[in-house]
Amino acid sequence: MRFEGKVAIVTGGASGIGRATALRLAAEGATVVMGDIDAEGGAALAAEGGGRIHFRPTDVTAEADIVALVAAAQELGGPHLLFNNAGAGGLRAPIDEIDLAGWDRTMALLLSSVALGIRHAAPAMTALGGGAIVNTASVAALAAGAAPTAYSVAKAGVRHLTRMAAADLARHRIRVNAVLPGFITTNIFASAMELTGTVRDTANAMIAQAASNAQPIRRAGRAEDIAAAVCFLLSDDASFITGTDLLVDGGLSVGPRHSWDPDTPGLFDALAVIAAK
Ligand SMILES: NC(=O)c1ccc[n+]([C@@H]2O[C@H](COP(=O)([O-])OP(=O)(O)OC[C@H]3O[C@@H](n4cnc5c(N)ncnc54)[C@H](O)[C@@H]3O)[C@@H](O)[C@H]2O)c1
Repeated sequence: MRFEGKVAIVTGGASGIGRATALRLAAEGATVVMGDIDAEGGAALAAEGGGRIHFRPTDVTAEADIVALVAAAQELGGPHLLFNNAGAGGLRAPIDEIDLAGWDRTMALLLSSVALGIRHAAPAMTALGGGAIVNTASVAALAAGAAPTAYSVAKAGVRHLTRMAAADLARHRIRVNAVLPGFITTNIFASAMELTGTVRDTANAMIAQAASNAQPIRRAGRAEDIAAAVCFLLSDDASFITGTDLLVDGGLSVGPRHSWDPDTPGLFDALAVIAAK
């Protein structure tokens, strides 16, 4: 019960990583205030939370909604903890085809929302004597190839914002860290393709299969894998950790596939075949 007596804000908890994290925080004693645009998923999570999870309809791109979410946590005696996590795939165009409106929407959802979450939660945490914040970035923050350009740039921004906030807020005893998930089987991919119903279920099954072969650890990444890392960073076990990234990707980012998959030939394997001829 690492979070007994703590009040945590979680954004994007109606599905996937946020959902798993809200449930784990509640299971470990926290009272959770969860904000999401998905009212149905939010209500379902609250019903599953055994009275420990409170859902508040929230669009993280609206500053007033974030202010209201923090106020809801204050009414419950918090917030001591914040997980800035809501997100979606965003603009899919390459850089030479982007439109400004789509770029701005993506940045508002994935980067400005995190800045505003910190902006409004930090004074409330300071008044309580400190707190801990985790922001969801991505392996896409590290290199090209994992996600579209706008998404990847926003996540790289979240990574550096995390460091800047850690520097700014240490004097208030607030720690700020980022989690960088790899390929995690959630609804984010089907949602990006706007798939629904049985087509969505089929797509999710295909994604789960692809995810189990995507990295050196040969199983699909799960939302619970990220929740475990987030809860570590939010807990007192991480009390000397701030401004860091915790990469949770099953080894996805260790290198090109041939460096870890014996069935995938690399350059030297190809040269050896040529030399043998
Ligand atoms: N799944 C992955 O492989 C992966 C990898 C790296 C990073 N991430 C990041 O993890 C976070 C969670 O994604 P997920 O994979 O759990 O996806 P998901 O689609 O399962 O969950 C995202 C949640 O965010 C909510 N949301 C979207 N826009 C919102 C808004 N404007 N206001 C409030 N809530 C909003 C959705 O309703 C949904 O409940 C995102 O920031 C995503 O970019 C995911």
